[in-house]
Amino acid sequence: MTSRPEIVFQPLSADLEPTVVALAGTDVALGSRAREIDQRAGGAILKAAEAAQYKGRKKSTVEVLAPPRLGSVNRIILLGTGKTGELKENDWVLLGGSTAAAVGARKTKSASLIAEASDTGGMKPEMLAALLAFGVALRQYEFKKYLTKTNKSEDEPNEPDGLQKLVVHCADPDKARAAYQHYEAVANGTLTARDLVNEPANELGPVEFADRVKELEKAGVEVEILDQDDLAKLKMGALLAVAQGSVRPARVAILQWHGAKSKRAKPLAFIGKGVVFDTGGISIKPAAGMEDMKGDMGGAAAVVGLMQALAERKATVNVVGIIGLVENMPSGTATRPGDIVRAHSGQTVEILNTDAEGRLVLVDLISYVQERFKPRLIIDLATLTGAIMVSLGKEYAGLFSNDDKLAHDLLEASAETGEKIWRMPLDKAYDKMLESKNADIKNIGGRWAGACTAAAFIKFFVKDTPWAHIDLAGTAMDAPKSEINPSWGSGWGVRLLDRFVADKYEKGEK
Ligand code: BES
Ligand code: MN
Ligand code: ZN
Repeated sequence: MTSRPEIVFQPLSADLEPTVVALAGTDVALGSRAREIDQRAGGAILKAAEAAQYKGRKKSTVEVLAPPRLGSVNRIILLGTGKTGELKENDWVLLGGSTAAAVGARKTKSASLIAEASDTGGMKPEMLAALLAFGVALRQYEFKKYLTKTNKSEDEPNEPDGLQKLVVHCADPDKARAAYQHYEAVANGTLTARDLVNEPANELGPVEFADRVKELEKAGVEVEILDQDDLAKLKMGALLAVAQGSVRPARVAILQWHGAKSKRAKPLAFIGKGVVFDTGGISIKPAAGMEDMKGDMGGAAAVVGLMQALAERKATVNVVGIIGLVENMPSGTATRPGDIVRAHSGQTVEILNTDAEGRLVLVDLISYVQERFKPRLIIDLATLTGAIMVSLGKEYAGLFSNDDKLAHDLLEASAETGEKIWRMPLDKAYDKMLESKNADIKNIGGRWAGACTAAAFIKFFVKDTPWAHIDLAGTAMDAPKSEINPSWGSGWGVRLLDRFVADKYEKGEK
């Protein structure tokens, strides 16, 4: 379950909470409020820093306990920033994460963060405060809803041990609060995506997932749920071929946010793979690690998180998100290798491996979104292949695109947010690997370049719309932990796509 601390912005001079975090630049350069606190403490802070040979290196800390002259303040933590003048936007977010980690490790319930640096490198003070708070919000996440006792030790009471309140002390709290609104929405969306990915598949089937999506109506998102009959009427034969082995019926959720001046302005479209569990189907996966396949809906989770973020911050653009929710199971009703199905587009697919199921779900949604919404562009997100992890590991997601401008725009948003993507090739040679004697296309391309042939399969169903495919199999789940992500389900992609939308499609539309 998500534990979300209350984050409040107050003036630099406001009263201090029992735990205080202050930033220390290179050579322990302190901001004015931190210097003043040090003076009040009779120089105890700088003395401790000197005694510890502390230099203010990035992420390093030094701690002063209960300086007698500071009354109710129990501890002061200096958090090193290195050369603050050189820090980029995302570095401040990471520092916010480090702040939350430092405070969290000390089991304190409320803390003050002095959001001030001796040199901000041109960053507006309110932005600095907002970015730090954003990092705190992203770091303060735990998925503990299935633990009946929160404490490991028998004799400790069962009470939340996390931070409950963070006071961000800053030069202009009103401006900081206003700047934070955007980031708070993005943090909320990211945490929603994490919750969805972390949830086990017995609790989160297609129907339950669709119910969760309905909750976005509160934020002003229009939500439409298509059930199994609707999907049959729409002739989504590829998606339904994946769902047919499961006793749990498929759902497709269509989420619309109308934020542009004209409701009829063409939307941006985001499509998510929502395989709530991927056993592989009849082409069943090996047992080891199969439990991770509860996260095979990471693309859909990112789309939902993104829609939440855009709605909560009232993005000035029209966006449609479509997610395909299915469970891939082996059973007497499951699709067999060799089966030929007809996709929504009318094209036929020979399914040679039922474990290459994500692409089948995506292509029906891609045909449908083109036909119904005529979007300005399509971006699909999917935990699509193990092969992308062989290529890029768990740091980068793979980006495939038929449009250089779209790819470039996404790469820029990636650089700003630190959610890394790397462009991978589309090529006629990969298209050729998908040729089938028995149908228009087959769903696997053979041993090599698995991530590329998967992308080529999707491309087969894209008409002349700018399209990008992001394979986040490595980054959506079990990705390396970071300052701002302590969770197995990372919520990866919400920050990237929020930034993409904000920078490339909202500027000038306000
Ligand atoms: N959901 C998997 C991909 C995956 C694997 C995601 C590991 C995250 C972690 C996908 O449906 C799949 O099974 N892909 C196959 C494709 C193959 C059968 C062509 C794969 O990558 O092995
Ligand atoms: Mn699979
Ligand atoms: Zn899958």
